[in-house]
Amino acid sequence: MRSLESQLTAAPPVTRAFLEELPGKSLLGPSVSSALVRYDVGAFSEAMASALDLPLPSVLRQTAVSRKSDYTAGRYCARVAMSRFSDEAGRPYAVPPGPAEAAPHWPRGLVGSISHARGRAVSLIASASQFRSIGVDIDRVMEPEQARKIEAEICPTELHALPRVPAIRALHVTAIFSAKESLFKCLYPLVNQMFWFDAASVVISRDLSGNLLGFRATLTCDLPPFSKGWTVRGRLRCEEGYVLSAIALP
Ligand SMILES: CC(C)(COP(=O)(O)OP(=O)(O)OC[C@H]1O[C@@H](n2cnc3c(N)ncnc32)[C@H](O)[C@@H]1OP(=O)(O)O)[C@@H](O)C(=O)NCCC(=O)NCCS
Repeated sequence: MRSLESQLTAAPPVTRAFLEELPGKSLLGPSVSSALVRYDVGAFSEAMASALDLPLPSVLRQTAVSRKSDYTAGRYCARVAMSRFSDEAGRPYAVPPGPAEAAPHWPRGLVGSISHARGRAVSLIASASQFRSIGVDIDRVMEPEQARKIEAEICPTELHALPRVPAIRALHVTAIFSAKESLFKCLYPLVNQMFWFDAASVVISRDLSGNLLGFRATLTCDLPPFSKGWTVRGRLRCEEGYVLSAIALP
């Protein structure tokens, strides 16, 4: 596989109008490979996906341009994050083409996760010999009004602890939502069943300046092979109006 640098160099300039890689450290440390991009839904066309050698799955052919651009940006991130690894024969891994709207079929030897939020996409990839599963999520920080409408559904067990100042409350609701989405993506491949926002309780941690740092999620019900009360820690970051969360399960 070509390096990221050569992929970007080889890509027609038109694709650079669509997406741009953002530098930064992996949320989960050096053993988890990470890629984060800024992308412009308005600059997407199917020619972009072809130029990036990321053909759209047939199930997405009739969907909105925004969904196609989300998929392409997410798969682009996955390819960049996967490029650090090679298979047992030393060959680069191919990015899984699908399925869309479901957990990606990562190649044997890797675990990973993808998220996109109309303008940002992220993927985290790690060796399956080090981690059982990974979950990542990115979301635009909600407006207070939007957060207020959904907080009871997203945060049924956390409601009492939410801050009162509307903007800070909205940031917390976004962070709890994102943490639960990361938890879902991390656990789904292991539990093979849907579970909803009341299946876990999340406690957020912040630094002395109030910046999001991490979270602890505790299951409120059994999700075999995990039992009620099982706890996992994840990381959180907020930058440029987006909340990013991630979990890696050793
Ligand atoms: C599946 C779900 C988590 C996706 O989240 P989203 O915020 O809508 O979208 P994101 O951009 O963050 O993530 C989408 C990506 O997640 C991945 N994904 C989809 N379903 C998945 C699953 N069951 N398991 C793991 N990853 C999955 C895919 O890579 C998808 O992108 P793609 O279709 O372009 O490949 C969400 O739609 C959902 O069903 N949530 C309800 C379940 C839940 O969150 N419960 C809370 C538990 S405490």
